[in-house]
Amino acid sequence: MAIRVGIVGTGGISRAHINAYRKAGGFEIVAVCDIIASKARQAAEEWDVPKKNVFTSVGKMLEMDEIDTVSVCTYNQGHRRPTVAALNAGKHVFCEKPMAATLADATAMVRAAKESGKILQIGIHSTFHPGLQFAKKVIDEGILGDIYYSESAGCRRRGNPGHTFIYKKTAGAGAIVDIGVYNMHNSLYAMGYPKPVRVSAITEDYISMQDPRFKDEMDVEEFGAAWVRFENGGVLLFKISWAVHQNTLGGNFCLGKEAGISLDGPVVFADSYSNDLQKLVKSEGLTANPDPPDGMTTISFEGFQGVDVWEAQMVAFREAVKTDGPSPIPPDGVLLTNVIMDGIFRSHKSGKEVAVKVPEF
Ligand SMILES: NC(=O)c1ccc[n+]([C@@H]2O[C@H](COP(=O)([O-])OP(=O)(O)OC[C@H]3O[C@@H](n4cnc5c(N)ncnc54)[C@H](O)[C@@H]3O)[C@@H](O)[C@H]2O)c1
Repeated sequence: MAIRVGIVGTGGISRAHINAYRKAGGFEIVAVCDIIASKARQAAEEWDVPKKNVFTSVGKMLEMDEIDTVSVCTYNQGHRRPTVAALNAGKHVFCEKPMAATLADATAMVRAAKESGKILQIGIHSTFHPGLQFAKKVIDEGILGDIYYSESAGCRRRGNPGHTFIYKKTAGAGAIVDIGVYNMHNSLYAMGYPKPVRVSAITEDYISMQDPRFKDEMDVEEFGAAWVRFENGGVLLFKISWAVHQNTLGGNFCLGKEAGISLDGPVVFADSYSNDLQKLVKSEGLTANPDPPDGMTTISFEGFQGVDVWEAQMVAFREAVKTDGPSPIPPDGVLLTNVIMDGIFRSHKSGKEVAVKVPEF
């Protein structure tokens, strides 16, 4: 039997959810909810949802026994309420990224997932990129040794999305939570979710403030840079922008005591092409290109399957729902992005390094 989905929020990203559910297969869209009735009605028509299952209140929609899972496609400040309500109503939840705009919201969402025993998957689709999955295996196998330093950076030279993304009221924050969550989560995920303890950061909005489209409108940041210390002694330098006078703010990489890895490949940098890495490459059905083959070497890889990450995240969600969990992307892990982001905004405000604390449940 198909997994029956209720969609909350019918803006741009809900269309991507529908496409991905259709590509993955095994889902049926049975209900739609938007606080704007006309948008809900139009989406229901597009997606062949019966008129009786069109709602403007999430609470009402959740009274339907015929819903197994809920897609939360509201703007960031609207993630917590429908997610917590759906989990408490016994539904699994697939919620758009970022998990939430604030640490308080994200904590409430993870708590509801734990208390209900239902799946909470956050739509950080970059996690399903085969290169990142392989990089995580390289790190899990201990091929890098202890990681003492990492960088995570993403950049648009001009790419302020405008719309509901530039208001605290709807988005909660700007580039850091919008696109930064991908880079930050990729790094934390690959490194096995090290526990952050201190953050020093700045956030800025200079370029958008010179643009008449945003000047008197936008109240979130376009740029952020942070120095994050982990309990294990490691460090992450994080940089992200929607608008900046540069083409790049650098790459995504980890430095270990035994080897380093660029997550943007991946590419391994080592003093030799070790037996452990050779074994992993073989078991993954990949080909490695160590250059040079002997001695200090730079190793790139071939043979990754082409993956539609949107489809892949819904396939993973479908399989988790069928087997009653766990979530393919652990919500406790994603929560660390909110812990760090909360530290970033507090550090910028105070002008000092701040302590951060991972919530306990
Ligand atoms: N994964 C990606 O590539 C990607 C891309 C764009 C946006 N997003 C994320 O998707 C989310 C939504 O973005 P969007 O561009 O679709 O936003 P949007 O503003 O276009 O749409 C949000 C919709 O939610 C509705 N809504 C708000 N509160 C509601 C509530 N309580 N109940 C029912 N409906 C409610 C609004 O009326 C609106 O129609 C954001 O969190 C954003 O970060 C992800």
